[in-house]
Amino acid sequence: MNADLHPDIVDVVATEEDIAEALERISAQVREDYDGTDLLLVGVLKGAVMVMADLSRRLGTHTQMDWMAVSSYGSGTKSSGVVRILKDLDTDLAGRHVLVVEDIIDSGITLSWLLKNLRSRGAASVEVATLLRKPAAAKVTVDVKYVGIEIPDKFVVGYGLDYAERYRTLPYVGVLAPHVYSDSATLA
Ligand code: IMP
Ligand code: MG
Repeated sequence: MNADLHPDIVDVVATEEDIAEALERISAQVREDYDGTDLLLVGVLKGAVMVMADLSRRLGTHTQMDWMAVSSYGSGTKSSGVVRILKDLDTDLAGRHVLVVEDIIDSGITLSWLLKNLRSRGAASVEVATLLRKPAAAKVTVDVKYVGIEIPDKFVVGYGLDYAERYRTLPYVGVLAPHVYSDSATLA
């Protein structure tokens, strides 16, 4: 095992190099597809902050960014589908080309709710870019145009992804040791 690995991480599913390569590939596709079109990047707080920072810098100068914070009620490691907006966009979406920037798509429940919500605001187009996708996402009918890395169905943290607000600043994405969340009563 890598000596630099955080002690709560049992396996790395995306190294810093894997992430950089995936974002390079996505940004090349986005630049080609939008070809100078005025684009609004919409990030979902807080998990997407790292992806937004690193993807937006690869896209050139024609992008703007805005943020939403949503809460998806559920237990510690699963989302439920009941979504509440904690912070809405500052931008009017009418006529805008929107690219939703996501950290990870698991069940796709949060994202399908979000897409419906954004499309109802009159955007000219709404597409999705995600760094990571788990296998369960294949079962839902969410159309995700740009996917970075397919990962196994494990709970992962790092590069923006948290467990109980921890591990977001790890530079890689790794599988959290299950003992960490089974001991969660003491974590809070
Ligand atoms: P979904 O609704 O199941 O697709 O998941 C929505 C959100 O749950 C994601 O945007 C993440 O914020 C979070 N999430 C899903 N899987 C993981 C994971 O493995 N680690 C950390 N957060 C996750
Ligand atoms: Mg998220």
